[in-house]
Amino acid sequence: MRHFLSLDDWSTDELRALIDEAAALKAEYLAGGNRPILKGKVLAMIFQKPSLRTRVSFDVGMQHLGGSAVMLGQNEIGLGKREAISDIARVLSGMVHGIMARVFDHNHVVELAKWSGVPVINGLSDDHHPCQVMADVLTIREHFGRTDGLKLAYIGDGNNVASSLLFMCAHFGIDFSIASPPGYAIPQAVVDAAMPVIQRSEIEFTQVERPEDAATGADVLYTDTWISMGQEDEAGERIAAFAGYQINAALLDQAKPDAVVMHDLPAYRGKEITDEMMDGPRAVIFQQAHNRLHAQKAILARLLGS
Ligand code: CP
Ligand code: NVA
Repeated sequence: MRHFLSLDDWSTDELRALIDEAAALKAEYLAGGNRPILKGKVLAMIFQKPSLRTRVSFDVGMQHLGGSAVMLGQNEIGLGKREAISDIARVLSGMVHGIMARVFDHNHVVELAKWSGVPVINGLSDDHHPCQVMADVLTIREHFGRTDGLKLAYIGDGNNVASSLLFMCAHFGIDFSIASPPGYAIPQAVVDAAMPVIQRSEIEFTQVERPEDAATGADVLYTDTWISMGQEDEAGERIAAFAGYQINAALLDQAKPDAVVMHDLPAYRGKEITDEMMDGPRAVIFQQAHNRLHAQKAILARLLGS
């Protein structure tokens, strides 16, 4: 059985086919509505952390495809506390057709998948955010008409989003440059895991300290919060460490003249990105957010469809 836990488990051909499917489902939806290819199917959604985009895109995505979703919030099932993850996975497997889970510890989605008789989708863990980057690459492809040969510069924390972006860029032929302060780079284990794909696709991957060095010649400038969910206790030291790691007009000037600005959201305006960039003509941020719906539908159709 296939799960969608990180892009590590999926081949380049499969991921490119998923984006073709996302584009097709989007076109079908905009032309009047999707066919009910998941009629009668139910998705359980487990959330250990808050969410707007992930929750709504999976719930509405299931509805558009003829199915439905059941929300299991932070205080409801007590993943690993009230009940063992292995037991939760086995109970849900007899009642629903798929499980989407947003967790802290990445091992918890791995554990769910190990015991589940239905596909498990990672709706964000501390280490990966694979569903987000599928929406991101759909957005990039829509905007530029291609992905191969572009350059994405990521400014900020080498977190879950950055790690998944590295895999995404390697699979889609996009050069990836990340600028992070010392101590906040993408974990070496993630870089090592992505290296075979990076080498196969021959993308350029660079890790630098100065945002300007990453942004030079970029087609896409991308950032994410300096303080991810679960890191609230580190807020003071993180705000100090990331000062200057901001997408603003001066940084955009270093990128290509037609470069676009991306952010997975939620954004902390005035921190990692300015209002001017968020609301300016170069941002594709809300198109990117809306594409969560279409990208998630493709994942659901692939995993839960017959
Ligand atoms: N980008 C994203 O995953 O948003 P939510 O946390 O609101 O789901
Ligand atoms: N890196 C952020 C992404 C939020 C969608 C976090 O984990 O909180």
